[in-house]
Amino acid sequence: MKSASITIDHKFTIGEIDKRIYGSFIEHIGRCIYGGVYDPGNKLSDERGFRKDVLSLIKEIDVPIVRYPGGNFVSGYNWEDGIGPKDKRPIKPELAWFALETNQFGLDEFSDWVKAANTEAMMAINLGSRGVEEAKNILEYCNFKEGTYWSDLRIKNGYKNPHDIKVWCLGNEMDGPWQIGHKTAQEYGRLACETAKVMKWLDPSIELVACGSSNPHMPTYPAWEAEVLEHTWDHVEYISMHQYFGNDENNIQNFLAKAIVMENYIKTVIAVCDYIKAKKRSKKIMYLSFDEWNVWYHSFPENKELLHWQKGPKFNEDIYNFEDALLVGLLLITMLRYSDRIKMACLAQLVNVIAPIMTSTEGVYKQPIYYPYLHASKYGRGTALNCVIESPVYENKNIGLVNCLDSIAVHNKEEEILTIFAVNRDINDSIDTSFTLGGFSGFKIVEHIVMTNEDLKAVNDMENPDRVKPVQGTNAKVDGEKLTVQFPNLSWNVIRLAK
Ligand code: AHR
Repeated sequence: MKSASITIDHKFTIGEIDKRIYGSFIEHIGRCIYGGVYDPGNKLSDERGFRKDVLSLIKEIDVPIVRYPGGNFVSGYNWEDGIGPKDKRPIKPELAWFALETNQFGLDEFSDWVKAANTEAMMAINLGSRGVEEAKNILEYCNFKEGTYWSDLRIKNGYKNPHDIKVWCLGNEMDGPWQIGHKTAQEYGRLACETAKVMKWLDPSIELVACGSSNPHMPTYPAWEAEVLEHTWDHVEYISMHQYFGNDENNIQNFLAKAIVMENYIKTVIAVCDYIKAKKRSKKIMYLSFDEWNVWYHSFPENKELLHWQKGPKFNEDIYNFEDALLVGLLLITMLRYSDRIKMACLAQLVNVIAPIMTSTEGVYKQPIYYPYLHASKYGRGTALNCVIESPVYENKNIGLVNCLDSIAVHNKEEEILTIFAVNRDINDSIDTSFTLGGFSGFKIVEHIVMTNEDLKAVNDMENPDRVKPVQGTNAKVDGEKLTVQFPNLSWNVIRLAK
């Protein structure tokens, strides 16, 4: 048994958490849309073809914002192919994932689905094969009230009220050579600036996200961020970040240390934003939209076997195990630690493709990563509070010293609830942890959720949907401002205290 201490104080505020930090993403890829969120004719779907069982899990998580339609897909997409009568919509080869796109689900269906899911839209526009004109047109279609070509077409298509989409991404991963219409930072920065200007002239109420690097391993990172922000500074509110993690070397300690890799990436992008701010003598704060993050590697071998030009093929269906859930918990803790700057983030993706929710034609099940995501979204709303952690450490060859225990607290002032999220990374030992809760005397334990598993590789599936799931913990005790709890080795924990 090891021991640790954590000091939390109601004054250690990081900032108000923007609920959109718990966003997610649906792309036209594999079975995410077709067979995932949209499955017409299935008895589990409603009259519009929306899977009701999927919708009810999305509502359980309370996903606040969903990015759409890509991803790499958007860089070759003609949004006009996905509107109007379904029997007139073209089937096209799409070159991001080498599939056939039937366009049976498009912008208007997405808008209906967003309402059905109680969420908001984050719409990406194509700045790969297209540009300013198309961006203006799609915005006019979505947000202009009436009396213009595109707004009247929306009305003709059955949508009297505007879709009123507030958040728009200016392309996707434009620094990546795999992207249709890949650009240099200067080419993209100029195009993003001109597109942003026109979009805001048409609808000044929208918020815009410029593309940052596709990941911190790109050769152009972080000069890309600096140059793009030089061009777009006055016109955008956010710069995007994307990052995925794998455990190909099958080393749990290295894998769980990767949250620190994410943390270093966040710190660098904040530094670049603040450098451009200083250079421009600006008062503006540039926020981060971490609009793709997750574990992603399990499906790579089987993806190589995939045949081209299928409709909604099984693709990128990572089957997540218990250790992946621990990293997802750590990544959520890491982003919350920077919630003064990260205002939006999207777990990529939401259904079937690298996703917490899996479907078959018969039903749904929750992958292990579903749980930390659910808990953070449900209980992690309010003010993020820093935790001063004194923890045992382990040595990692890439990172250096890594705390065995990581934690963050969230104070929901209206409901007078303090929530503590914690992960014990220690392979063998539980950690006896003593918390000092400054300013929270009189708070009592409402709930202690623990997720642990003897088998790091344990997964859920349709037949055994509950192999990995959280249980109630029993050893947390509070006395005045002292909380003591024993965190089991390799565990995800949520402690909720209320006045
Ligand atoms: O989420 C899967 C893919 O990962 C997205 O399409 C792309 O933006 C990223 O490379």
